[in-house]
Amino acid sequence: MYNSKITGLGFYVPDNIVTNSDLEKVMDTNDEWIQERTGIKERHWIPKGSDETTATMGAEAAKIAIERAGLTNNDIDFIVFATLSPDYYFPGCGVQIQEMLDMKTIGAIDIRNQCSGFIYALSTADQFIKTGMYKNILVIGSEYHSNGLDKTTRGRGVSVIFGDGAGACILSRTEDDKKGILSSHLHSEGKYAEELVVISPSIKHWVPEIIDSNGKDISYFPYMNGTFVFKNAIVRFSEVIKEALTANELAVTDIDLFIPHQANLRISQFVQHKLKLRDDQIYNNIMNYGNTTAASIIIALTEAWEMGKIKDDDIVLLAAFGSGFTWGSVIIRW
Ligand code: ACO
Repeated sequence: MYNSKITGLGFYVPDNIVTNSDLEKVMDTNDEWIQERTGIKERHWIPKGSDETTATMGAEAAKIAIERAGLTNNDIDFIVFATLSPDYYFPGCGVQIQEMLDMKTIGAIDIRNQCSGFIYALSTADQFIKTGMYKNILVIGSEYHSNGLDKTTRGRGVSVIFGDGAGACILSRTEDDKKGILSSHLHSEGKYAEELVVISPSIKHWVPEIIDSNGKDISYFPYMNGTFVFKNAIVRFSEVIKEALTANELAVTDIDLFIPHQANLRISQFVQHKLKLRDDQIYNNIMNYGNTTAASIIIALTEAWEMGKIKDDDIVLLAAFGSGFTWGSVIIRW
């Protein structure tokens, strides 16, 4: 068995910054409410009329990650793309990356695990490396939320939370059995699928039915049972972190940096206090990006690495919880 380690990181967000005050102009909300409940100050939203999409942002992040890994596009053996906001209903964004980056006809899959998407994607790539099937895998998390949000007062409980952006990493084979991804733990609980969901358009509720409702059917906007999601998130985050630490015979004090999915600053802070983590053991950036779902962990990981917060041999913990419900964790020795 081989080991896999991250050899390149990159992220990309659209230039357009939308502050909480900007949102006050289009819906009944305010900076104080948003910051107090979520910690978010601003997010990046692709402006109307732009050509940018989930796939193009993913491609931009990927270019940076590939270059930093010291590789060329043709060194990549496989693409794993995590998103809940693909450019097309089908095919997935992974195949678009193969085309956009002019790669060989390598395989590409999309991972549909929402906020846990990047954890699932990284774990999937890790298995392909460990078995020896591939040497260098491009793993992307990217979301274009803003075009699918209800930006009226009706949708304010959801729309203020989400941001657009993408991150990417290269997962490469290493023969060093002490370094790289030490473990991944993945979970799901489908009975809560409709607590955080976009119901349609789906094949059981297709576009003509929405049009026939004359505007009454708004099931194409995200629905979130916020309080219920919050309660489940704090329990599952803690569980899956403890599961990972136990599996690796590590203690909370061994964690050099914890990067939680940037769902809500209050969730991150709750988990931090529950685990008794010091401030320097956790990295949050939701204040500036909002919740970018499958992109959030890889954007934060890249940013933390760029800031010099991750050093050789560090224990880095990643964990996520979200729609599905799905949740998971990955531990890396850097
Ligand atoms: N601005 C102003 N007021 C608002 C807004 C807003 N943007 N949104 C809702 N309100 C109002 C509501 O209408 C309600 O008013 P009322 O009391 O007159 O009825 C009041 O604020 C309280 O609404 P709640 O929904 O009960 O607010 P809550 O305290 O639960 O906070 C929140 C909402 C922030 C979404 C919270 O439930 C939460 O953090 N949930 C966790 C879910 C989460 O973070 N999801 C992120 C995506 S999922 C993931 O990544 C895991």
